Formats: sequence, C-alpha cells, structure tokens
Amino acid sequence: MNAPVARSVSIVGCGFVADLYMRSLAKHPDIAVTQVFDRDPERLAAFCKHWKVRGVDSMARFLGNLPAGALVLNLTNPAQHYAVSKTCLESGHHVYSEKPLATEMDQAIELHELAAANGLLLSSAPCSVLGEAAQTLAKAVRDEVAGPVRLVYAELDDGFIAQAPYKDWTSDSGAPWPADDEFAVGCTLEHAGYYLTWMIAMFGSVRRVVAASTEAISDKPVTGTPDFATATLFFESGVTARLTCSIVASHDHRIRLFGDKGVLQVKQSWDNSAPVKFHRRTTMRRRLIEHPFGKRIRIGGDTHPKVDRWGAAAMNFALGPAEMLDALAQDRPCRLSADFGLHLTEVTLAMQNAGEDGCAQDMTTRCDPIAPMEWAT
Ligand SMILES: NC(=O)c1ccc[n+]([C@@H]2O[C@H](COP(=O)([O-])OP(=O)(O)OC[C@H]3O[C@@H](n4cnc5c(N)ncnc54)[C@H](O)[C@@H]3O)[C@@H](O)[C@H]2O)c1
Repeated sequence: MNAPVARSVSIVGCGFVADLYMRSLAKHPDIAVTQVFDRDPERLAAFCKHWKVRGVDSMARFLGNLPAGALVLNLTNPAQHYAVSKTCLESGHHVYSEKPLATEMDQAIELHELAAANGLLLSSAPCSVLGEAAQTLAKAVRDEVAGPVRLVYAELDDGFIAQAPYKDWTSDSGAPWPADDEFAVGCTLEHAGYYLTWMIAMFGSVRRVVAASTEAISDKPVTGTPDFATATLFFESGVTARLTCSIVASHDHRIRLFGDKGVLQVKQSWDNSAPVKFHRRTTMRRRLIEHPFGKRIRIGGDTHPKVDRWGAAAMNFALGPAEMLDALAQDRPCRLSADFGLHLTEVTLAMQNAGEDGCAQDMTTRCDPIAPMEWAT
C-alpha cells in the first residue's frame, strides 16, 4: 500500500461542507491542507481567501501537484463523487469521499474494485461512527449494559425542511446551503448513513432490507426524489432494526436500542458529545416502566478533539481522514474500509430506491463490524 509522504490532505470541492471540514481540521493541527480545487472559480477564491489555503485552478494541476499515495477528500456534490473519486484512484491516490460513495451501485462497485486493484484506501463519510457518542454506545452494547439487544429504532427525521429558512443558511466562507441539490439527492442518500454506520459497526452486515420510500411533499422547489424512507434491517448477527429518514416529520434524531434490561438511547446523531443513556426497565405498582431520566454512560479519559456546534451539528468531520492517515502510517486496516463504504452504499440505495413496492432486498455485499477506537476498548 502506498503511504502518503506527509500527514496531509488535499480537497476537491470547496462548498458548504468543505468549511465544516476546515473547522474540524483546525482541531487536528498535525494534518496539513496542501491544496484545494473547485470547478467554480469564485467559490474557490472565496474559500482560499477565508481559510488562507493554496488553491489550484484545474483538476489536472491538482493531480499533477500530488505525490503518489496522497489522501484526497472528495467534497463535491453527490452526482460528482464517482467521477472525481475514480480520477483520483486512477492517479494513485487514496480517497475519502463524502457520502454517498456513488449514486449508483455499479459505480460504487467499480470504485471499490479500482481501489483494491491499486492498493489504495477508499473510505466513505460519515465518520461520526468514530466519534465519542457512537463509540460509547457500541461499548455499552459490547458490555451488555442493557442485556442482549433485541431491537433497534433509529430516527433521522429532519423536520419540515421545505419551510425552513434555508435560504439564510450560509457557511463560514459564504457558500449557500445547496438546497436544490439536497432536495434532488434526497434525505435518505444524504442522511441514512448517520445511523447505518453506527449499526453496521455494532452489528455487522445487513442481510436483508425490507423498505419503502415515497415523496410525501410533491411541491418542493425540486421534486422527484423520495423525502421519506423507512426500512426494517435484518442483520447477519440476528439483530433487527428499523431506520426512518425524512424531511417531513418533526425533527427527531434518536436511536434506541431495546435490550432485556432496558433501553440504551442517544438523542442527537450529529453531536459527538451527545449523552448516551441507559434507561433501566423495572416494574412499579404492577406496571412495566423504563426509568425516565436514565443513567449516563461515559468513556473515561481523552477521546478525540471536539468541534464547536455549527448550525445543527457538533461533528468532527476530520475523524475519518485522520483514521485513514493513522491506518496508512501504522500499516494497518482502516476502520472505514472500502468494504464498509460499499455495504453502506448498498443498504442506503436499497432504502432510497424501494418505492412503494421495494419488497425484500437481499444484500450482495458484506463487511465486518468496525474495531473500536483504542480509547473506547
Ligand atoms: N451541506 C451540508 O450540511 C453537508 C453536511 C455533511 C455532508 N455533506 C455532503 O458534502 C457533499 C458536498 O455538499 P455541500 O453541501 O458542500 O455542497 P456544495 O454545493 O455547497 O459544494 C460542493 C462544491 O463542489 C464543487 N464541485 C462539484 N463538482 C466538482 C468537480 N467535479 N470538481 C471540482 N469541484 C466540484 C462545487 O462547485 C461546489 O462548490 C455532499 O456529498 C453532501 O452530502 C453536506
């Protein structure tokens, strides 16, 4: 495997999320941003001015500047992920792609094969699975705090986004929130990964997806993509989960794991510091109740750098790239493996594309559960 010559990253796509990456990378002073490129010259200029990073004016120049085995962060729009990642992999560079890895499964498979053939790492966002809340929850599951987990409910409802003041949402360097692209890509491709990654990390591969999706609001600025999807996920390990994504129902980002002794719960998926709580089940006056406040579960000691809350999120977007650089430096497998990213993509697409008659879909890809971070063992 090619190791990068320095602990650095280069960025393609300098839009809304790139600013969140820069905020996160600022918490990792050991990682340098070597160069950035955006095909929109005005956006590139605004980004470089704000963050004082070196911009290049073409993809050819961007690739030409890179030493073999560099790490490229692909932060372009989803429709561009496949083409940009392919070019970078073909040029001999490791790729960390924003989600989804690709918008079509055959494209995701091609990227996976290309990375394997060239001995390169290919990882897909999101990386909150490496964060404190997800790692604490996974440890609580391993420790059977709630006993064996029988069922999981995960909600990724973002509220009635079509009525949100999203035209006022701009990033640090002035990029508008790309509403049209978000509506066109859809909340499932955009967000299912936030809890799918946690569940796959804890319970391993999904064996079967039974999903349905629809467009509940057909008079949004951009239409034609499901704004609601729900799925029952049957994991190889025997756990069953229900995952819902929408930009219609009231904001609800809870994950609840129901076990024999009670419920493990996290209320915020986009906050690395979100409390993980255990609500013990007991009987009181002949009624079965779960403790209303719950007991907070903590991992002692230092975990990882935290970023300040920005908008709805307090997520460190650099945890994924940092994990890739660590894996390369230590010559060990990357926790966000290409298998993991491919499986995540297959399950997400099964939900998004289910429609009204998606029925049962047997997954063709698989991956192993993710090894816990050292600080979470
Ligand atoms: N907006 C968010 O809050 C958010 C949060 C997490 C993840 N994401 C993900 O981040 C990715 C980017 O989203 P965004 O919100 O930053 O979008 P954006 O439209 O604000 O930015 C994307 C940028 O990529 C550039 N670009 C597109 N194709 C390119 C190409 N081929 N070469 C060079 N530059 C190219 C565009 O010019 C644009 O500036 C998406 O995959 C999205 O799912 C977004």
